[in-house]
Amino acid sequence: MCGIVGYIGKKQAAPILLEGLKKLEYRGYDSAGIAVRGEQGIEVVKTPGRLSNLVEKTAGGALLKGTVGIGHTRWATHGGPSECNAHPHCSADGAVTVVHNGILENFRELKEKLKKSGYEFGSETDTEVIAALIGYYYSKCGDPLRAISRFMRRARGAYALAVLFRDFKDEIFISRKDSPMIVGVGEGEMFIASDVPAILNHTRTVYYVDNLEMARLCADGVVFYHADGEVTEKEPVTVDMDPSAAEKDGWEHFMIKEIHEQPRAVSETFHRYVQGGKIDFSEAGVEEDILKPSHIVIVGCGSAYHVGAVLQYVIEELARIPVRVELASEFRYRNFIFEENTLVVAVSQSGETADTLAAVREAKAHGVKTLAIVNVQGSSIAREADYTLFTVAGAEIAVATTKAYSAQLIVGYLLALEFARLNGKMGEKEYASALAEIDSLPEKMKKILDSKAEYQKFAAEHLGVHDVFMIGRGVDYAVCMEGALKLKEVSYVHTEAYAAGELKHGTISLIEEGTLVVGVLSRDSIAEKTASNLEEVVSRGANVVSLVREGCSAQHSQPGTVWTVPSVAECFAASLLVLPLQLLSYYVSVQLGHDVDKPRNLAKSVTVE
Ligand code: AGP
Repeated sequence: MCGIVGYIGKKQAAPILLEGLKKLEYRGYDSAGIAVRGEQGIEVVKTPGRLSNLVEKTAGGALLKGTVGIGHTRWATHGGPSECNAHPHCSADGAVTVVHNGILENFRELKEKLKKSGYEFGSETDTEVIAALIGYYYSKCGDPLRAISRFMRRARGAYALAVLFRDFKDEIFISRKDSPMIVGVGEGEMFIASDVPAILNHTRTVYYVDNLEMARLCADGVVFYHADGEVTEKEPVTVDMDPSAAEKDGWEHFMIKEIHEQPRAVSETFHRYVQGGKIDFSEAGVEEDILKPSHIVIVGCGSAYHVGAVLQYVIEELARIPVRVELASEFRYRNFIFEENTLVVAVSQSGETADTLAAVREAKAHGVKTLAIVNVQGSSIAREADYTLFTVAGAEIAVATTKAYSAQLIVGYLLALEFARLNGKMGEKEYASALAEIDSLPEKMKKILDSKAEYQKFAAEHLGVHDVFMIGRGVDYAVCMEGALKLKEVSYVHTEAYAAGELKHGTISLIEEGTLVVGVLSRDSIAEKTASNLEEVVSRGANVVSLVREGCSAQHSQPGTVWTVPSVAECFAASLLVLPLQLLSYYVSVQLGHDVDKPRNLAKSVTVE
């Protein structure tokens, strides 16, 4: 996923573009570039590496004069991070300059065709093929929108494009399919961005560009078109995102800030849907008929999938409705067999993950109702799912999700209670008690966060660890999945989540002197089993940590280091158990000297397959 910005107005474009790219750097940070239309035409400056290199090379934008421009931060898909492969890319004749977020799946076929006609490419990217193809069509028709429209007919894949045409000096053209793009409306100026934080300092009035739409922007406004060239009317919306969410506000990193925002995110998400002891999803149009499925399929990727892994246990235990949790990237190609009265629940922080969006479309294509749990307003999944329940986590900037994960769990717990109530499996008393348990989570989360020094110290003492296993049963195993992903994605330490009962079936051969094994034990009925598994690895030289729920039967008989989280109903313990693992991940990464907010090879939202 990459970050795109654009500006057209009366102010100097370059500083505005760089400021916007800074807010989008979490979307991709292999390389960056901007193109600004000056007196001498369109000037392009690009650098490999972080955005700070571009800021330095352009003296904060002062070296590029002009009031129209586009910019890009890259997460490489085709061709390594280099100045040559950085965006913007231009057509050979200089008539067209493009920045792109997405992936052109048929770029090889198109590149070969253009090469056969004598076109010479300078980069390995699919985006240069886009610039060349639009430039080719433009050379034939002389009309930017017709050239873009013809490109859209030939292209396969996902794209959000911002395009400058040398001959149209007071306009920017855009086009999107499957990759997000918004247009911001200012006073005598217009903005383009991949995501709201990039333009929040300038305007809160935005248009969400829909799939297969194009637009032409001038300083005074924008006209939208369908891909076939027909004008389409759109209404702007006002975004209510808090700008401080995109600032560190004194925290060293976004990740530690967002870890500490979890009690608020959980509380605000809870109170958005619970008033007077009752759960009310009606604002999302979710009425009782939707909350009586016979089967539930939860789809997501990464941490969103791990939310599903927790909810599978919780919903089945409370509502006695069969739940399958599927990796969206697998589900979309499985030719899934849908049972009668199935509800597909799509979980996504960004609402732009390509595989999860495709899973929603696949379910809808089979006439299956879709309900999304999403954090970003106006995102593609939120707009395409039949129903969307938003989390109230605020903008999440760190690539490693924490507060959105926790807020998604809350929405899932509330759904589980409604499923259980309407399925006749939960009486009023149990319902009220469960609500009270969920409502108690923020205070209990704060208690864990107050003891963060314990995890910071442990991290410092175990920086040399190379292999980590996290083991548990049931919900505890689902927590291990998230804990393992957190640790490996920000610290690059190999970490695996394993069903505790499965370790002996082969993988225990990897346990050796010094291997770190974290056991998660929160459920009385099975904690002793996992405790035995921990003893087995201790006897093979492993260092173990027992992460236990206060009051759990296994609390006092654990080997190794014992971390305790406050007691809460077993069904909701994941919300507390995950915090020590988030903190451990953060401190290991920082103490290893990594860029914890922008881990290598990653991007905040994967908008390509
Ligand atoms: C989580 O820390 C990762 N950044 C990643 O696994 C993420 O959860 C996944 O890409 C799904 O993103 P989404 O929630 O925006 O769909």
